[in-house]
Amino acid sequence: MAKESKLLESFLVTFLATIYCFSLSLCCPQYQKEALLQYKSMVFPSNSTDVLGDLDSWTSTTDCCEWGRVTCGSGTASKQVTALDLSVIIRDGVLILTSDILTPIFQLQTLVSLDISHCDIQGEIPGTGFANLTQLAYLDLSANSFSGSIPGELFSLTNLEYIDLSGNTLGGPLNPKLSSLRKLEQFFLDHNKFSGPIPSSLFSLTGLTALDLGTNSFSMEIPYGISNLSNLTYLRLNNNRFHGGISPLQKLANLETLDLGNNDLSGEIPAGLFNFSSLRHLNLGGNKLILRNPSIAPKSMFGRLSLRSCNISGKFPTWLVNQTSLSLLDLSDNNLIGTYPHWLSDLQLATMILSDNKLRGSLPSTLFQSQNLRTLVLSGNSFSGRLPDSIGNATELTVLMLSDNKFSGLVPESISNLSNLFLLDLSVNRFSGNFPVLAAWLAYIGLAQNKFHGTLPQDLRNQNNLYYLDLHDNNFTGKIPALHSSPLRVLNLRNNSLEGQLDNLPNSGFLQILDLSNNYFSGKIPASLRTFSWIVGTPVALVDVIRAYLENKDIKSPGFDVIWKSFMQKFPGQNVAIYSFLDLSRNQLSGEIPESLGSLKNLKLLNMSYNKLTGRIPSTFGNLTSLESLDLSHNTLTGEIPRTFGQLLQLSDLDLSNNKLRGRIPTGPQMDRLNNQSFYANNSGLCGIQILVSCDGKPSPPKPEIEVGGEIWFSWEMAGITFPMAFLSTIVVLYIAGYFQIEQPKRPRVYVRQFI
Ligand SMILES: *[C@@H]1O[C@H](CO)[C@@H](O)[C@H](O)[C@H]1NC(C)=O
Ligand SMILES: *[C@@H]1O[C@H](CO)[C@@H](O)[C@H](O)[C@H]1NC(C)=O
Ligand SMILES: *[C@@H]1O[C@H](CO)[C@@H](O)[C@H](O)[C@H]1NC(C)=O
Ligand SMILES: *[C@@H]1O[C@H](CO)[C@@H](O)[C@H](O)[C@H]1NC(C)=O
Ligand SMILES: *[C@@H]1O[C@H](CO)[C@@H](O)[C@H](O)[C@H]1NC(C)=O
Ligand SMILES: *[C@@H]1O[C@H](CO)[C@@H](O)[C@H](O)[C@H]1NC(C)=O
Repeated sequence: MAKESKLLESFLVTFLATIYCFSLSLCCPQYQKEALLQYKSMVFPSNSTDVLGDLDSWTSTTDCCEWGRVTCGSGTASKQVTALDLSVIIRDGVLILTSDILTPIFQLQTLVSLDISHCDIQGEIPGTGFANLTQLAYLDLSANSFSGSIPGELFSLTNLEYIDLSGNTLGGPLNPKLSSLRKLEQFFLDHNKFSGPIPSSLFSLTGLTALDLGTNSFSMEIPYGISNLSNLTYLRLNNNRFHGGISPLQKLANLETLDLGNNDLSGEIPAGLFNFSSLRHLNLGGNKLILRNPSIAPKSMFGRLSLRSCNISGKFPTWLVNQTSLSLLDLSDNNLIGTYPHWLSDLQLATMILSDNKLRGSLPSTLFQSQNLRTLVLSGNSFSGRLPDSIGNATELTVLMLSDNKFSGLVPESISNLSNLFLLDLSVNRFSGNFPVLAAWLAYIGLAQNKFHGTLPQDLRNQNNLYYLDLHDNNFTGKIPALHSSPLRVLNLRNNSLEGQLDNLPNSGFLQILDLSNNYFSGKIPASLRTFSWIVGTPVALVDVIRAYLENKDIKSPGFDVIWKSFMQKFPGQNVAIYSFLDLSRNQLSGEIPESLGSLKNLKLLNMSYNKLTGRIPSTFGNLTSLESLDLSHNTLTGEIPRTFGQLLQLSDLDLSNNKLRGRIPTGPQMDRLNNQSFYANNSGLCGIQILVSCDGKPSPPKPEIEVGGEIWFSWEMAGITFPMAFLSTIVVLYIAGYFQIEQPKRPRVYVRQFI
């Protein structure tokens, strides 16, 4: 009985609601409801297995003004949809959303506010559709994959006050028609591919309070016209190619945030900039600007301040002592002298970056008393002495970079208390003692070029996030701990006194740089090395955070040392994702080279010289089509050089000398050019055109078949290009590193205005 009356009741409610809606027009119009239902069915096709989340409430029997993410205007008889929040709709990744899915939305001409951010929609922004939304005041299309240029139709939406197009791949020059958006107050275009100059018409939009053009390729001098935008409180032009002086900015006295980081700006920093009383976040780093008189105290109370590479010389600016609101200070890459100022510890900074100066002396123990300190970067100075025992008190530390100083003695045991630490770089110092005991979630451990000794800790295998381990040039002894399942990308143990067989190496496929040279490793080269770097180039979520950290232009990334074409070179950490190097040289390795190594298609460098390898060079080496440098010299290899070497079209550096090779040196487009006699010296009878030794009487091998136009995984030229960094991981890492992350001005989540 109760059940039946419940049913009846719910039927009546629905029935009455329907009558009420239609006769009195108190629900959203049918065409709007249908348009929204159509959108839902496009994002979640009927066969999709996604959880609908908030869109659950979108059903044909209810009033769409009652749905989640939908807001209707109020106060007038006709309820109409005025605001729609479609941001961050989580779906499984199978369906690729293209901008076609927005088609139903364009029926809703009554929209005032539309948020489609974080939906990963691809394709061009549909101009003709948007032209329909003439009431639009608030538009957020950020963090999608929109490409092409901004369609001209968008500039006809003259009610727009807020536009966010950041985090897409939009490009081209900015359209001067932008100036028709007379009501525009906040405009975010950062993290796109815009280039060329900013059209001067932009500077007629005097109502602008926030403008973000950061992380694009804009290129021009900062124009004087920008001083018209005197209501600006938020201006970011960082990570572009702006050049020339910055004095046009002196008139923008209402600025609270000014980010000019990583451009080519030059000249003196105008004193006027320091007189802005509301300026809280200032980033001038990564330019060629000059702070002529660093002793003049600014009027501003900064929250974040970067004067990186601003030509500041002499002692620490003492006015900093009064900057009690400061959370980030970056004075790196200047000419600061003297010792670490004690009062700096009192500021309770979250991020302190003083690298690449001329600071000296020991660190005061007060430095580590702070519970706020998250990032400390002091690399490239002349700091000395022992690290204070108090280091373990800075329990919030995530990044500690002290490389390239003169620190000595034991690493304090208390460092094991730093349970949030994920990047530790102590390399190029005079630290001694055993491998420090560390908490278990480090992603990056750099201890290279110190005087550490003793065995490597067995619990390294518990470092489940370890991505980078560089211990080269120390005196570690004993065997490599079991690292089979380790996600390591870089393992550099060069020039230690390690021994034993190579059966403990990570075989998860992530490893891209393996340098074991100059040790006492013995036994056979394990066939399992075939999994080496097979994941190269594939972004792996696990390491995105650290990769993004290394790619962050605001912090000089710790590079890594590799012997490349016979010279020790420092490679920027930025490019770690595209290298694949294997160096086993100067060990006691014996036996034959496993055929399976021929599967290392991505390998750029292979050095097995100065070992005791015997047998033939595997013919599978012809499959190492990315290989540029191959050194097998100083072994006891016998037989002929495989004909398949003719397929090595990238090879430019070869050393097969000091073996027992004989027979004809293979020919091929690239092999023919490798004609330096010393590459082949001290063998047992090699001949060929490369060394001008006739092979008369010896059988001439047929020319190898060269795979023309075969796909080369990546070309070396790409090494100079940093990988585009995923927008989201940038945010994650900025959070972790606490770097120049500035909150954007408050954006209204749902922007509701009376629609009449
Ligand atoms: C759903 O159906 C469409 C077309 O009918 C198809 O392309 C798609 O692969 C299907 N998706 C799933 C998850 O089955
Ligand atoms: C514009 O809105 C009208 C009325 O809702 C609709 O009929 C038309 O299809 C829309 N145009 C576009 C391009 O979506
Ligand atoms: C600038 O801001 C002031 C104060 O908020 C306001 O009165 C003025 O109208 C604004 N200027 C423009 C051009 O919008
Ligand atoms: C090996 O490391 C030591 C320091 O441990 C250094 O003095 C030496 O020069 C290094 N040798 C080579 C060949 O790099
Ligand atoms: C290979 O390693 C040896 C010893 O570490 C080094 O001397 C040599 O230059 C390296 N070969 C190449 C081609 O880099
Ligand atoms: C060849 O061997 C001789 C004698 O051991 C040595 O002096 C010479 O340097 C070697 N040549 C090359 C190119 O390694």
